Amino acid sequence: MTQHALVIGNSDGIGLATTRALLARGAMVTGISRRPAPIDHPQYEHIVQDVAEPAFRDILAGHLRHQPDIDLCVYSAGIGTDLDLENLASETRTFAVNVMGAVTATEIVLGHMIARDHGHFIGLSSTADVLWSAQVPAYTGSKAGISRYWEGLGLALRGRKVKITNVRFGFVDTKMAQAPFRPFLIDTDEAARFILAQVGKNRIRATKPHATAFLAWAAGFMARSPLSRLLPRV
Ligand SMILES: NC(=O)c1ccc[n+]([C@@H]2O[C@H](COP(=O)([O-])OP(=O)(O)OC[C@H]3O[C@@H](n4cnc5c(N)ncnc54)[C@H](OP(=O)(O)O)[C@@H]3O)[C@@H](O)[C@H]2O)c1
Repeated sequence: MTQHALVIGNSDGIGLATTRALLARGAMVTGISRRPAPIDHPQYEHIVQDVAEPAFRDILAGHLRHQPDIDLCVYSAGIGTDLDLENLASETRTFAVNVMGAVTATEIVLGHMIARDHGHFIGLSSTADVLWSAQVPAYTGSKAGISRYWEGLGLALRGRKVKITNVRFGFVDTKMAQAPFRPFLIDTDEAARFILAQVGKNRIRATKPHATAFLAWAAGFMARSPLSRLLPRV
């Protein structure tokens, strides 16, 4: 049972629902995001921090000194904006949050768990990790990179008590999922239940729903084919 959890990226969306679900199960939870989470609970504390800032590393390390008995970390911080060829800086920002923030959290928190031989790190990637997109190339590229990294770590940790799981959702009903067509949409409570159902399991990759993963793979395949010039942009 999870007693001490850290949820990174939890002022909104899937991270907020996961925080609420953990508190309902009696866990003590610390959240990190740039805005405070709308939660008032005796077992909850919040750290206001941008994961793309250099201070994030020290903030995490300081939190683990204060709360070393961590059982679970969920990395849910993520952004994704449409490509603007006149402003590639927003693409860099997407990698800073979705990849470098995630890699820093993995280094500090998973590293701590490995040293203590205890804990489960769950990272949120996406079924878009197989997509080739002209509309959101930084989002799909960042998810491809972090998926391969987390899953490689999962292979390296096989047989150990410490676990890492790469959770790949299709469409979840949050402000991030703005597409006009959102097949197999799930809500944030269902997403949170799916995340927490992974805790303690030896799953390197957990995908929900598989149908969206197949659609993403097919769309990626089509995007790379010469026929793609005949199709609307994905
Ligand atoms: N929604 C979907 O359809 C979907 C599908 C597949 C995968 N995912 C993945 O699931 C994760 C959560 O997405 P969501 O839909 O819940 O998004 P969301 O509702 O937009 O929430 C994103 C959370 O990340 C935090 N965040 C963003 N930038 C941050 C930064 N620089 N530093 C600290 N925290 C930051 C936000 O808090 P602040 O703004 O307060 O910092 C917010 O709490 C993301 O990795 C996303 O890629 C989502």
